[in-house]
Amino acid sequence: MEMSPWVERANKVLMKNVGRLPVVFSRSAGAKLYDVNGKEYLDFLSGIAVHAVGHSHPVVVAALNKQAEKIIHVSNFFCLEEQILLAEKLAALSGLERVFFANSGAEANEAAIKLARKYGKTRMGGKYEIITAYHSFHGRTMGALAATGQPKYQEAFHPLPGGFRYAHFNDLASWEAAITPQTCAVLLELVQGEGGVVPVEPAFFHGLAALCERYGLLLMIDEVQTGLGRTGKFFAWEHLGVKPDIMTLAKALGGGVPIGALLAKEDVAAAFEPGDHSSPVGGGGLAFAAALAILKIMEDEKLPERAARLGAELKAEFRSWQQELPIIQEVRGWGLLLALELAIPAQPVMRACLEQGLIINAVSPTALRLVPPLNIDEDDLTRGLAILKRVLAANIK
Ligand SMILES: Cc1ncc(COP(=O)(O)O)c(C=O)c1O
Repeated sequence: MEMSPWVERANKVLMKNVGRLPVVFSRSAGAKLYDVNGKEYLDFLSGIAVHAVGHSHPVVVAALNKQAEKIIHVSNFFCLEEQILLAEKLAALSGLERVFFANSGAEANEAAIKLARKYGKTRMGGKYEIITAYHSFHGRTMGALAATGQPKYQEAFHPLPGGFRYAHFNDLASWEAAITPQTCAVLLELVQGEGGVVPVEPAFFHGLAALCERYGLLLMIDEVQTGLGRTGKFFAWEHLGVKPDIMTLAKALGGGVPIGALLAKEDVAAAFEPGDHSSPVGGGGLAFAAALAILKIMEDEKLPERAARLGAELKAEFRSWQQELPIIQEVRGWGLLLALELAIPAQPVMRACLEQGLIINAVSPTALRLVPPLNIDEDDLTRGLAILKRVLAANIK
């Protein structure tokens, strides 16, 4: 791979907090990225499910420019028109009446944890424990990290905030066993993204919702990765017909402009009183404008429906590959949040694809994650699939 001097400079000055790949980008359009050497890449990762409407969408760019000239920020003591419009839009789409804006998925989850704690303290006689899933991912801040049921992310950072218990995803008995007299809520993803793109089983989820009902627990769903069309519906819980009490969003909402959102039912949100939680930037004008433009594109172009259709087509295509490429052991996911479980290590496949101009992600040692923009051109999709198939075929010895 042709290395640019920018890679060396990055390696000297940026913290080594993630395993970065040796590519520096300078331009983007739709599902295409261009590195500093001018090489084109097809982006089947979308900044990890962030670019639902593709990179540098002209309507989003125009909205950002307009907003930058109009107004960007006023602190949390005041509102912006765009903030109110966005909250109204999200409330209308979800049926969850109250919205709080933060700057990231982790921050949205921190806010969700605090809301559940405050609700538990004031409405449930002081209950405070939250049950989350093993292999979940809720963010890197201390509270969100404590909620994340993956020791590999937590080990170096103990002591973490207490009050979390963990249960096995898709195993209802494990959740029931984790309930104590102190439990106030459960928090889970409906497709565990960072955990390897593992979808929830409907029977488990309905059982969990019934447990929440029986024990009076808040049902909290983290839609940071699954939310806003990615799984074929605006929200993954719509597939299952159970509206949560609390939901978090980020990623696709801002399309790369930092924003997170906490949504809750009216009576749950009422637990927050002035002074309980806040964020002086909390999204901000640019993020609200980008989000409004992105949601309009999603609705106008029916992108959740497109994700459902393309996802089903891709799954069928990958399953047809299994005949000639038996290294594909499983195809899983919902909509355009997909994974291929391989019989070989995923890292070398990801790197070979990168060399050939296709960006995908090794989400686990043996699984590839594919999360292309929901509005990807059919032509770009076909070209990217051809690269992936070629690389996989080259790996059959
Ligand atoms: C399900 C889920 N929750 C929370 C987060 C954290 O979001 P952020 O990186 O915006 O803090 C992520 C990020 O990958 C995620 O996938």
